[in-house]
Amino acid sequence: MPSTIAQSRITIQNTLTLSDINGAPGADIIQGLSQTPKTLPPQYFYDEQGSILFEKICNLPEYYPTRTEASILRNFAHAIAHETGPCELIELGSGSSTKTRYLLSAYADLGQAFQYVPVDVSGEMLTQSAHQLIKEYPSLTVHGLVGTYEQAMAQLPTPPNTPRLMIFLGSTLGNFTPEQSDRFLAKIHASLRPGDYFLLGVDLQKSPEVLHAAYNDAQGVTAAFNLNMLTHLNCRFGSNFILENFKHRAVYNQDFGQIEMYLDCHTDQNVNFKTLNYQVNVCSGESIQTEISRKFKVDALTKNLAQHNLTLHQVWTDPQDWFALLLLQCV
Ligand code: AVJ
Repeated sequence: MPSTIAQSRITIQNTLTLSDINGAPGADIIQGLSQTPKTLPPQYFYDEQGSILFEKICNLPEYYPTRTEASILRNFAHAIAHETGPCELIELGSGSSTKTRYLLSAYADLGQAFQYVPVDVSGEMLTQSAHQLIKEYPSLTVHGLVGTYEQAMAQLPTPPNTPRLMIFLGSTLGNFTPEQSDRFLAKIHASLRPGDYFLLGVDLQKSPEVLHAAYNDAQGVTAAFNLNMLTHLNCRFGSNFILENFKHRAVYNQDFGQIEMYLDCHTDQNVNFKTLNYQVNVCSGESIQTEISRKFKVDALTKNLAQHNLTLHQVWTDPQDWFALLLLQCV
């Protein structure tokens, strides 16, 4: 049921379809918890409380990715805009568009009116930030898409006469398994035309100590973020996870180059999801994997992207080589 609210330079479009709303919600939970070892999909971190906790994580001294990526954007946004020239900017997972402001400023400085297409599951966040952005950037129109990446990529506005720049920041690509990542990159490619650009922010491999600290912060915010997934599921699907039975654990798996987050169970529990008509036993000593966060090597990633006909144009990093912004071009 696509609905559109147009107001001067803002359009907010709902990309949710009837089948998304009526389709089996929570099927992914049943699937994950029926596997051995058990998993839960990381998108369930982000209810309102989860988004607040994630914002807190971004400001922790140990959690370097957000501020490092922001510093690269601050230093090189104008170089990026200079490389691509005027573009329509599409951002997957825009949130409050904080880091994107560096890019919006650089594209505004090119002196042409342009459009920004933020995509986010939170319509409230999109609407709020769209109103703020048009105040800040007089040459900007905002066409927000409320929905998942897949839904949004299937419903992008009519291509403009300038190239498109698809933006995917925050190393969210690292949350995908290699198989999920390949499917995602194929969709990115399908939503671009030859000559269009893709700007990708990724976290890089580095010392295990630095990585470990970033996911095991001293204040316990990451632990609260991890456990909040259970609170979220309890509210949303009527489950009865007892939070005291679980403990946060994050480890760096050096062989796979990924952080793995788990909720370790300390007491046997039968968990009953009332609204899903689903019950599952979680045993003492069992772990539920809630997230992987892959850490990349620029060379290997570049090869993988090239297999998807996304060729590397330029890379920008920070002085420590902790994080990278890749500008790719669609062929
Ligand atoms: C938003 C997926 C990039 O993997 O670092 C932060 C989420 N998890 N602390 C990440 C997260 C634990 C974050 N991403």
